[in-house]
Amino acid sequence: MRRKIIICIVLIFCIFLVSGCTKNKEVKTNKKNNNSGSNSLVLYFSATGTTKGIVERIAKNSNSDIIEIIPKDKYTSSDLDYNNDCRANKEQNDNKARPKIKNKIDISKYDVIYLGYPIWWGTNPKIILTLLDTYDLTGKIIFPFCTSGSSGIEESINNLRNYNSKLIIKDGKRFSSNTSEHEIIEFINKCKIEYNYIDKDTSKMNVNIDGKDYTINLEDNSTAKKLFELAPLEVTMKELNGNEKYVYLSSSFPVDSYKPGHINQGDVMLFDNGCLVIFYKSFDTSYSYTKIGYIDNLPDLGNGDVSVKFG
Ligand SMILES: Cc1cc2nc3c(=O)[nH]c(=O)nc-3n(C[C@H](O)[C@H](O)[C@H](O)COP(=O)(O)O)c2cc1C
Repeated sequence: MRRKIIICIVLIFCIFLVSGCTKNKEVKTNKKNNNSGSNSLVLYFSATGTTKGIVERIAKNSNSDIIEIIPKDKYTSSDLDYNNDCRANKEQNDNKARPKIKNKIDISKYDVIYLGYPIWWGTNPKIILTLLDTYDLTGKIIFPFCTSGSSGIEESINNLRNYNSKLIIKDGKRFSSNTSEHEIIEFINKCKIEYNYIDKDTSKMNVNIDGKDYTINLEDNSTAKKLFELAPLEVTMKELNGNEKYVYLSSSFPVDSYKPGHINQGDVMLFDNGCLVIFYKSFDTSYSYTKIGYIDNLPDLGNGDVSVKFG
């Protein structure tokens, strides 16, 4: 009887172990490994096929899947006859117009969405707003692109950003019908650089001071991003005034200086446009700085220069 109980316990434990392992694997492979192996999608609406031509080239060069936004009521040529009082014009002039989408769109498995559309009266067709109303694109990195007779994409991007400020809508690109392959590849590469950057946690950075590791909590500004981009960076920081270590870097930084009035121990600041400062004591100041971040639990670093590795 005792042996039977032990065998049962061992069996239950094995089943538990196997199911646990399978679950872990699912979590790990989630998102990146969908059927096609791609985590980017070209999602588009095209009424007369011009945008569709660009879509296929973006998808090929970026190894993305393609999904078309198909209107429930297809646009006929008279619907698009913008010199007359056509359906497309009416929709563009009606703030409440949300033309229905025919197909179900599964965007759950994609992290990056290239969103394509033609420009209608200077902006995106209203069906793109239907898309934003219907599907939750929060957390996706959206790169808009368009085709047009001559209008740019900027107005549509402002429009989409204002429509849902929670979305991550990056700057996009207008393509003409005779776009070169080089232009397409250049666009994708630019998006990839931005995407990889977003993918990293840019809110924190490691800093090693004389062999000890600390964390800098970075500000969400272009000065902090510049330091993040420069890393890994090894410098000797000089002692000054018994409260700071500083180094003048050869790169100049974006500046947005202000007078903080008070410095806290651990503050990391930019003085001028290229002098990086770590403060290791708190004090009042009348100088102007651009804040880069602060170091958790930074001790008094004492006298003398220090060797510092950022990143
Ligand atoms: C209703 C309507 C309005 C348009 N408004 C503009 C415009 O404001 N500026 C522009 O450059 N092109 C405009 N166009 C031209 C389209 O943007 C252009 O032909 C586009 O490449 C069509 O893309 P598609 O073939 O993917 O639908 C308009 C076209 C239509 C049908």
